[in-house]
Amino acid sequence: MMRRLVVLLISTALVVIGVSFTATAQDMSPAEQAAAAVDQRKSLFKTIRYNLVPIAGMAQGAPFNAEVAERNARRIAVMATMIPEMLAVDTSDFDNIETTALDSIWDNQDDIAVKAQALIDNANAFADAASTGEMAATLGAFRAFGGSCGNCHDTYRVDND
Ligand code: HEC
Repeated sequence: MMRRLVVLLISTALVVIGVSFTATAQDMSPAEQAAAAVDQRKSLFKTIRYNLVPIAGMAQGAPFNAEVAERNARRIAVMATMIPEMLAVDTSDFDNIETTALDSIWDNQDDIAVKAQALIDNANAFADAASTGEMAATLGAFRAFGGSCGNCHDTYRVDND
């Protein structure tokens, strides 16, 4: 009895959520969808940066913490798998958005995938080094890891940093 009630509650909740998702997508104009896509990709990059900041601090002399270094690098490696998806929506036709993404992104999806994969690989290599607890080896892997951000920004982002 209890079990049936729980199942009923869960399926009701899913229906409610499902309906509201559908309604949202249908109600949004193309301009609103573009703005949402930009919002979404900026959120991903901000969260990636949030995780990189403590690591960059260690590279600049803050106390070394191998656990945080490994954990945050693994998080970035996972989040970076979303980058090609987030940079797949061509938002160039809309002027209601604020973006630093260059229009060349939309015709270079293969290269975006390559650059995202480089970040994934370098973040994991850094995390592998951190898992040994060795500071010198870990920080030595930071150049390639951090460089993977600039390597994409230099090509696909307005030069503002
Ligand atoms: C494959 C390409 C690519 C890689 C790799 C990449 N970025 Fe970016 N990043 C972009 C693009 C494109 C934008 C511009 C997004 C926009 O303004 O719509 C951006 C924007 C940002 C922003 C600004 C977000 C905002 O609020 O406007 C931050 C912060 C950022 N990236 C951090 C990073 C960090 C840190 C890394 C590496 C750990 C990284 N990115 C790796 C392509 C990339």
